[in-house]
Amino acid sequence: MDSPYKDLDRPPLREAALRRALLVPGGLWRELDVLPETGSTNADLANRADEAEGLVLVAESQVAGRGRLDRRWTAPPRSGLAVSMTLAPNEVPVARWGWLPLLAGVAAASAVSRFTGVEVRLKWPNDLLVGERKLAGILAERAGSSVVLGIGLNVSLHEEELPVPTATSLLLAGAESTDRDPILRALLREVEEWYTRWRLAGGDAQACGLATAYTDACATIGRRVRVELPAKPTLEGTATGIDDEGRLLVAGPEGQVAVGAGDVVHVRPAG
Ligand code: BTN
Repeated sequence: MDSPYKDLDRPPLREAALRRALLVPGGLWRELDVLPETGSTNADLANRADEAEGLVLVAESQVAGRGRLDRRWTAPPRSGLAVSMTLAPNEVPVARWGWLPLLAGVAAASAVSRFTGVEVRLKWPNDLLVGERKLAGILAERAGSSVVLGIGLNVSLHEEELPVPTATSLLLAGAESTDRDPILRALLREVEEWYTRWRLAGGDAQACGLATAYTDACATIGRRVRVELPAKPTLEGTATGIDDEGRLLVAGPEGQVAVGAGDVVHVRPAG
């Protein structure tokens, strides 16, 4: 806790006010807790996956934050948002659940852009980018009959606090506001709104407008990409779109391939 930024620049989240604003009758969110510190909010909620959906867990600090593809997610205490939520869209065919992390990306990008004035784009599946630098990441994990969606957003990190030089924060991106309470409220409201629409459409991302919203926000579609696939040779080609299950379609030397998991690199055009 030696950070010179820790107190004045990084006020704590206001749990009671967040609860008043977000836990409303008939709404999706049922419980909201803010922990001063935990290992991983995703891991904590995975242990409660058998309860009804709508649990929200926020941590001011995570000591074992999990990222995609077995990576770690790290950030100084109160420098960002680390939030997880449980969803259980049981009437939606499981093949369409692949849209959930993309839905979270659309919701997060739209809430952040609207509230902070920073132009945010998505890298498939759901990294939030400012330019080519990563502002936020999303991890969706199956736990029993639920999905735990976790979002990590860098808010007030200074350059020397970034986990990697290719990351960024709202502060560094020149945000109009870095007040975490209203950003979290906007984020959870957007997730609720998109989730309700998607679910009512039986998980049909085209019918509920999610596919269009995703495509509009996505910087990957139309780009040359290199996809590092778990336990498979790297794939290179052009990202052409997203299929009904939320997979990235890549046109490469061997025709069109649908990618369900992997790390995408946007390849710069020559010259
Ligand atoms: C990634 O881009 O690799 C995904 C990062 C997800 C980080 C968030 S922070 C809140 C939640 N709890 C975790 O342990 N991970 C997610």
